[in-house]
Amino acid sequence: MRVLVTGGAGYIGSVVTAQLLAAGHEVVVVDDLSTGHQDAVPPGAVFHELSTASLDPVLGSWAIDAVIHFAARSLVGESITEPSAYWRNNVSGTLALLDSMRAHGVGSIVFSSSAATYGQAVEQPIREDAPARPTSAYGRSKLAVDMALTDYATAYGIGAVSLRYFNVAGALRTPSGGYGERHTTETHLIPNALRAVDGGPPLQLFGADYPTDDGTCVRDYIHVVDLGDAHLRALGVVEPAAHHVVNLGSGAGYSVRQVLTAVGEVTGEEVPVIEAPRRPGDPPVLVASNAAAAQLLGWRPERDLNRMVADAWEFHRFGRAAG
Ligand SMILES: NC(=O)c1ccc[n+]([C@@H]2O[C@H](COP(=O)([O-])OP(=O)(O)OC[C@H]3O[C@@H](n4cnc5c(N)ncnc54)[C@H](O)[C@@H]3O)[C@@H](O)[C@H]2O)c1
Repeated sequence: MRVLVTGGAGYIGSVVTAQLLAAGHEVVVVDDLSTGHQDAVPPGAVFHELSTASLDPVLGSWAIDAVIHFAARSLVGESITEPSAYWRNNVSGTLALLDSMRAHGVGSIVFSSSAATYGQAVEQPIREDAPARPTSAYGRSKLAVDMALTDYATAYGIGAVSLRYFNVAGALRTPSGGYGERHTTETHLIPNALRAVDGGPPLQLFGADYPTDDGTCVRDYIHVVDLGDAHLRALGVVEPAAHHVVNLGSGAGYSVRQVLTAVGEVTGEEVPVIEAPRRPGDPPVLVASNAAAAQLLGWRPERDLNRMVADAWEFHRFGRAAG
């Protein structure tokens, strides 16, 4: 299959591009390099520095069979202060992509949706039919695309799978270094804990008085290689005129302190921590039900927290230098 990967110079897109190539697919990457790195595009993929909004004149000449759409802005806090960038990039950019796909007869898309579409869901684990009440422009932009995909499937026959990721972590290790997370603005717990161990600023622990076993928030973490495996499976279940929405999580959670313990075990260093007040809007527990992923994709995650931390640590120390 010839797959267009948008955002293939980013964290998850680069991992999935490498997995697609390893599985024998051809890959065309488009990325505007707004947060990605050109040297993260795996060798073997064709790369075009382009925005999803500018694809229309060229898409028809690429003979694409399916699209995996990662390209987006994804900083929750920034989305609250700069919503225009999120609606324009994540929503308008995706509508431009979908209309180009229609114009050029590309009928299948796998979309990076997010747990942020659910907001502060009350019932745990969160199922796909839980009320979607996003609390940020980022979450609303992802939900808007999910809703558009349902309409495009019904009216135009596009086949779509929205994968709602929970917290993605870890790296794909290769002999030459691998593919992992190197965001300039990093908001994720594991890379920030690794930076703290490696001489960076101490990790800020937001809230130690939640009604959880150890007082810290519980979140659902998933290894990026398991996540990528789900994308390859999703390509195989896309069907015309249908839109499936599927959570990708482990079905269980780890508290912030459990993550910090794992970082300590892997690195041999205690994570320097500063305890800070709770952040507004952070619920105590967010855990995915992954029953739909098991049923539709035949998928279950295989790599545990220590493996995520170990792979992220290896990538932190030996991965490609930031471009
Ligand atoms: N990392 C997570 O834990 C997580 C969780 C839920 C959902 N997601 C979603 O997964 C996707 C990938 O996330 P990531 O962590 O790899 O982010 P990332 O920032 O590393 O990658 C996004 C890539 O898209 C590119 N890009 C952005 N806008 C573009 C545009 N209009 N045209 C072309 N390229 C564009 C960026 O340059 C970057 O390379 C995003 O859609 C994100 O919302 C991520």
